[in-house]
Amino acid sequence: MIGSANGVAVSITGIGSRVPEKVLTNDDLSKLMDTNDEWIRERTGIRERRIAEPEQALSDLCLPAAREALVDAGVDGSELDLIIVATVTPDMAFPSTGAILADQLGAVDAAAYDLSAGCTGFMYAVAQGYGMLAGGLATKALIVGGDVLSRILDWSDRSTAVLFGDGAGAVVLERVPEGGFLGFELGADGSGGPQLYLPAGGSRTPATAESVAEKLHFVHMNGREVFKFATRVLVSSAEAVLAECGRSIEDVDVYVPHQANVRIIEHARQKLGIPEEKTVIDVDRYGNTSSGSIPLALSDAKADGRLYEGQLVLMTGMGAGLTWGSGLIEWTAGGEG
Ligand code: ACO
Repeated sequence: MIGSANGVAVSITGIGSRVPEKVLTNDDLSKLMDTNDEWIRERTGIRERRIAEPEQALSDLCLPAAREALVDAGVDGSELDLIIVATVTPDMAFPSTGAILADQLGAVDAAAYDLSAGCTGFMYAVAQGYGMLAGGLATKALIVGGDVLSRILDWSDRSTAVLFGDGAGAVVLERVPEGGFLGFELGADGSGGPQLYLPAGGSRTPATAESVAEKLHFVHMNGREVFKFATRVLVSSAEAVLAECGRSIEDVDVYVPHQANVRIIEHARQKLGIPEEKTVIDVDRYGNTSSGSIPLALSDAKADGRLYEGQLVLMTGMGAGLTWGSGLIEWTAGGEG
């Protein structure tokens, strides 16, 4: 799916984020499994990640992130008419974390639901929110991306456990006089599903004592194949959305790629020709937070004063599905720059 904005201007008017307090360093991990700081830093760029406490569920991270975004936008929860939570680790299968959040925020008039598109979920959700606002169905949307991946990792599998962390970010979308989203490109290749999946817990393999014993409730990943896919789509999706919107790489002021691995980001950045100083990187501190990755990186960029009026921001996510998605936005709010 690809398209450029051609009517109502819609933009991000508020941002918030939350990560758990508990820090798990590479050295901490080396005491749990056969790994070491040097290997993890060289192959991934990750130094540490945040891990939720046992009693902390996804909504416990989403709620403070959402509140911060609402304050930033000057919007009250009761004004929201749309809440989408992008995640693969909701509090529970149902009710949705979106509905739980709507209740907590007093958003009594909002449609609220979860969206599953792997680590690309946030980009899919933002595109949906944009469409509903531009189409006149909604006026104030809260889009949250977050995951508590520590709950679905096999902590005896060093090839996956070292890569991920927990966190959530949120944005408020509203109509604006001008600027805002210029376009989106979203895609999915289901044939690549087995490269990154969690086999059990759904209707095909319900939770049983056997499925738990066989570790089917954990992330399974073919790292090399995902690496190849990621480096390919980060480039092709970014190029597609820029071409669709009549912009070039040189026009991009801030590049916010999915934070899976510094090597993947470096590869894409160099292939695209985006200078290092325009690229937002926080995977070293948070690891791969899945649906939380792009909104967390946006939140960091804003805190650093990198997002301000007129900046052209390119975001690209990719993940399980396999899925990918890019959005291009001319920044209209926030930032002290
Ligand atoms: N510590 C130490 N050694 C390790 C570790 C570890 N944590 N993990 C693997 N190794 C070993 C392997 O066993 C292997 O040893 P061997 O040569 O004796 O067999 C060696 O290190 C090399 O393993 P590779 O898998 O070839 O290492 P590679 O350079 O491919 O890096 C990695 C692996 C980091 C997983 C890489 O493939 C990658 O980043 N893939 C993409 C993963 C990803 O980002 N997934 C999520 C994206 S989508 C989403 O966000 C959901």
